[in-house]
Amino acid sequence: MLAWLLERPAVRDARTLITTITEDNAASWGLFTRFAKKRGFSFVTTPLFERDTHFQGRHDTEIQLAIRLSNRAADTTRKGFSMTQAPKPSAQIPDIAIYDRRESQVRSYARSMPRQFNRAEGVWMHDNQGGTYLDFLAGCSTLNYGHNHPVLKQALLDYISADGVAHGLDLHTDAKAKFLSTFETLILKPRGLDYRAMFPGPTGTNAVEAALKLARKVTGRQNVIAFTNGFHGMTLGALSATGNAGKRGGAGVPLAHVSHEAYDGYYGPEIDTADLLARRLEDGSSGVDAPAAILVETVQGEGGLNACSMEWLKKIAAIARQHGALFIVDDIQAGCGRTGTFFSFEPAGITPDIVTMAKSLSGMGLPFALTLVKPEYDQFKPGEHNGTFRGNNHAFVTATAALGEFWRDDRFAEDVRRKGEYLGQRLREIADAHGLTLRGRGMMQGINVGSGEVAEKITAAAFRRGVIIETSGADDEIVKVLAPLVIDDESFAKGLDILAESVAEALEGGVRVAAE
Ligand SMILES: Cc1ncc(COP(=O)(O)O)c(C=O)c1O
Repeated sequence: MLAWLLERPAVRDARTLITTITEDNAASWGLFTRFAKKRGFSFVTTPLFERDTHFQGRHDTEIQLAIRLSNRAADTTRKGFSMTQAPKPSAQIPDIAIYDRRESQVRSYARSMPRQFNRAEGVWMHDNQGGTYLDFLAGCSTLNYGHNHPVLKQALLDYISADGVAHGLDLHTDAKAKFLSTFETLILKPRGLDYRAMFPGPTGTNAVEAALKLARKVTGRQNVIAFTNGFHGMTLGALSATGNAGKRGGAGVPLAHVSHEAYDGYYGPEIDTADLLARRLEDGSSGVDAPAAILVETVQGEGGLNACSMEWLKKIAAIARQHGALFIVDDIQAGCGRTGTFFSFEPAGITPDIVTMAKSLSGMGLPFALTLVKPEYDQFKPGEHNGTFRGNNHAFVTATAALGEFWRDDRFAEDVRRKGEYLGQRLREIADAHGLTLRGRGMMQGINVGSGEVAEKITAAAFRRGVIIETSGADDEIVKVLAPLVIDDESFAKGLDILAESVAEALEGGVRVAAE
């Protein structure tokens, strides 16, 4: 009957079949999953209404089953990554006088990519002159699932069409409940994690700010330990913990209450900087005040793609515990699968006291940040850390859809790990050909080309060939690949071919650059 229904003209273009089923309804589960499997359709299950939370124990938990009718109409999930496309940049810079006239000169990315973009899907961005670009920047890891992923987009369209609450301060909403229960079921429980979710303001720096304030409140201490080349955001607390002099210079006031200690590898492979930190904290005359928190990125996204070892990370977590400091992992750029696991610290087997998340959490580029806190440290009084935009309901909807689509099992993470290996291999070939070195981990890797000037030449050459790619590092000396994690193999290979050509062009004549 289902098959007959789906052939009716009115639903011929339908791309998703959604049903809700109670957990114990074996007959319905059998019917729908058999239907999907027989036709090779993939399906996603998302907890919708919980027995205890939503029905006060009076009705069984309802689970939503969404079957993607992928081989009927065009398969929209893959369409964005279609093999038929190729980068085709437009040749001319359009009229951008309005930006010079009216937009603050603080803008940055727009300067190296002077086009006007008007459409994006999957791994592709299009400009208003018909140019097509392969996106190896992905909103600085905000678009791990690509631009306008059809499942996420549909979830948002459905929610808006049904007049779902768009803004509700921090009121309870269906969208928030679904996000929290999906996050609990698909992310926290399988990893044995117990966190409360604090929704700060909408952007990453808000999550860091909340984490630092909370650690200071919990411990009654002021000092925070952050690391060389760390990047945590632009508001004053997060900026104090950021290393880059150029960014710090914009503060206009002293940036205080943070000790910047050496990150893993800062003095070369021979020196264990975790031991140095331990020594400084043990020494009452080192001048380092007892820390409220130790704040760390596992891969320094903006600070040069330095990736710490899991051994070092474990040591830092132990040092924090030993000295009564909260251990905070800033997973804003490296999280949401970028390094091959949902949280970037998972391979270390540690449990941070606080985790900050943002960027790809909403899955669609909608502003959405999260500060995850162990229950015993959830100590802000009601309203003590407030704000108008705490919890973006549209982002709850797309984040829930993203978790259901990509994190219901390990397949996506496995694929990301495979692509990360491929990326490392291709970058290694490029680096070896020019005597350069690699940086990073997983799908967050790049090449150290030794100077910002050379890196800029490479990214400009890539942009001329239709690849959007950016730099990272103290002097912008790292060319960093942040492709969407959903990229298809063919587009990925094509983009990396273009990168190889761009590196060769920029280093023309076989100039070898002393990178380290
Ligand atoms: C690790 C890390 N923390 C914090 C931030 C700040 O996030 P946002 O720019 O959303 O404020 C960033 C941004 O790049 C980041 O990479």
